[in-house]
Amino acid sequence: MPNTVVIEKDGAIAIVRLNRPQVLNALNEEVLTELGIAVRELDDDTAIRVIVLTGNDKAFAAGADIKEAFVGVTPASMLAQDLTAKWEAIRRTKKPIIAAVSGFALGGGCELAMICDIIVASETAKFGQPEINLGIIPGAGGTQRLTRAVGKWVANEMILTGRFVSAQEAKDIGLVVHVYPAATWLDDAKSLARTIAEKAPVAARLATEAVDIAWNAPLDAGLEFERKAFYLLFATEDKQEGVDAFVNKRKPQFKGK
Ligand code: CAA
Repeated sequence: MPNTVVIEKDGAIAIVRLNRPQVLNALNEEVLTELGIAVRELDDDTAIRVIVLTGNDKAFAAGADIKEAFVGVTPASMLAQDLTAKWEAIRRTKKPIIAAVSGFALGGGCELAMICDIIVASETAKFGQPEINLGIIPGAGGTQRLTRAVGKWVANEMILTGRFVSAQEAKDIGLVVHVYPAATWLDDAKSLARTIAEKAPVAARLATEAVDIAWNAPLDAGLEFERKAFYLLFATEDKQEGVDAFVNKRKPQFKGK
């Protein structure tokens, strides 16, 4: 099986790199399957605390593989294949996952980034939902997640024109958190991942779950989840460690317990 996804472990962080450079990391069935497996394995690896999902300098991912996924298909065959269901494996990741985007993040590539917990970008990044140019619409969450992220009017303008948005504009509209220099973008993303990896893992997991619920549920349901998660954390060793470290003016050492 070709390695369409490459995993590199670096202490408590793992870098998952999409590896189909000849087609700008277009997402076919193989890459989505391997990505799901990679993420699940890393989720089970107790040594890993944060995952960085990335591509190469030129492309994070230029979308669904148009030649493989869209030629000669029917609604019934697409339903049977249900490629987007594979992305749910990434969405269900318990560990914080950072999308580190350089170059193109288009269509399914932009949607893949939006499944992650944080998006950071090289100054070269270009985001977009250009499906309209193929006579279709985003089909892996783009109309929903982009709208929640940037609001109805910006989302409509991006989806209806299919235009590419620069890294700086993506930051201005709230899609991207940090724009890093082209020479250091991946190191900078890893550095962010290491910072998060030093935090209490159980709290990090519950924090991202709670933030996700803010997207999906009414405020009262989200507040209810937050309240219970907050109380639950008082039963962890890491909470004792964090509070003790603060009181004794030392750096906490969190264990994920
Ligand atoms: N699928 C399949 N192959 C792709 C691809 C894609 N999404 N994007 C790029 N490639 C291939 C190109 O066909 C080309 O292959 P060949 O050398 O064999 O011709 C190779 O990657 C390099 O691409 P270009 O020569 O086009 O590179 P460029 O720098 O001139 O242009 C680009 C880059 C603007 C990203 C252009 O490739 C492009 O427009 N790609 C398609 C982007 C797109 O429409 N994405 C949305 C897909 S639909 C989707 O994702 C639906 C969904 O919601 C799930």
